Amino acid sequence: MSKASQNEEVRSITVLLKARLSKKRFTHSVNVARAAFALAERWGADPQKAYLAGLLHDCCKELPFPEQEELMRGGPFVVSDVEWRCKPVWHGIAAASFMHAELGISDMEILGAARWHTVGRANMTRLEEIVYMADLISADRTYRDVDRFRKMAQNDLDKALLCAFEYAVESVLKKETPLPVSTVEAYNFYLAKIARRSEEKSEGKTKTAERRKNT
Ligand SMILES: [Fe+2]
Ligand SMILES: [Fe+2]
Repeated sequence: MSKASQNEEVRSITVLLKARLSKKRFTHSVNVARAAFALAERWGADPQKAYLAGLLHDCCKELPFPEQEELMRGGPFVVSDVEWRCKPVWHGIAAASFMHAELGISDMEILGAARWHTVGRANMTRLEEIVYMADLISADRTYRDVDRFRKMAQNDLDKALLCAFEYAVESVLKKETPLPVSTVEAYNFYLAKIARRSEEKSEGKTKTAERRKNT
């Protein structure tokens, strides 16, 4: 797609969202799009795709649940049993279905970023990681640890994701609502990834020390 038609697509989606969402949700969506664009530049994803996915991630959040459910049933993604029992996560799956069916978006990376932004999953694509984090650190977020998350997202995306999933699991447990399996798998995945990274780092240090000793 040319730059001009990408810009045109973003313009028309912005108009659609303005009509579809409350002012607060619209502002949040634009902020997430901007944060996703910046993270994509930082971490090597396509900034245009990140902007579009960020803009649309909550496009179904204000729909009544029966409408979200209908979109989910007709969409391209499998929905787990726990997700069916957990209405607050529906809007991500419904958004991906809406983007696919109503907006003609077929790029699975963009659809996946919307689909997984509520629950996460193990081994997310870079774009999914970016939109997940952008949703947590967008300019309108004011929770206590937001600045810590913003810094982490700049410095170490894996670590930021691990902390984000820790936070997500904790808050689900506090609310005593069902915990989607993919969120637990995401937590385990990033925990193992970071452990592997530090093992590799210390192995690297040992090898360097051995090489020095032998020269
Ligand atoms: Fe959301
Ligand atoms: Fe959001």
